[in-house]
Amino acid sequence: MNKPNNPARFLIREVSWQQAQAELREIRSCVFVEEQLVPAHLEWDGYDENAIHLLALSSAGHAIGCARILEKGTIGRMAVLKNYRGQGVGRALLEQAIQCCRERGLNSITLSAQTHAIPFYQRSGFVIYSDEYMDAEIPHRDMQLKLSI
Ligand code: COA
Repeated sequence: MNKPNNPARFLIREVSWQQAQAELREIRSCVFVEEQLVPAHLEWDGYDENAIHLLALSSAGHAIGCARILEKGTIGRMAVLKNYRGQGVGRALLEQAIQCCRERGLNSITLSAQTHAIPFYQRSGFVIYSDEYMDAEIPHRDMQLKLSI
């Protein structure tokens, strides 16, 4: 059965902050700042300009999800707009982010997972390696994926 905002087909595009700042800001403001109440000064942390960004676009061309990859292989800022969740967009973003790290010759990827999303990352092979801690008043644990060379 189709969901109300079923993206039907979507594509993931690798973009720079300079190319897609407006779309990336829109999604992250919506998901992290408004929905999850992450303070704006923590969300806009100064790492965006030099990061690799992934943008998910619906078949109608709307930006519906995003992810960020930092130089040393840290994935973060993984977000899908509420109406488009549960349809594989997050999985596609994560798989492409992993692929992006492989292509850059990295041998491991780390991320700071909100605890509710741990099963989502475990499905792609990430394992927990820290105790729980609070960041922006949200419980997190660090996870890692070792990439075989
Ligand atoms: N908890 C447990 N499992 C989850 C989950 C969650 N919060 N979100 C997704 N999954 C599971 C899905 O059930 C699905 O499982 P399946 O492959 O067995 O069907 C799988 O993970 C992939 O789901 P998918 O539809 O690709 O994910 P999504 O498009 O809904 O995106 C998030 C997942 C986490 C990016 C999305 O829920 C989101 O933007 N959440 C708010 C922001 C957030 O918390 N980001 C993560 C910060 S660490």
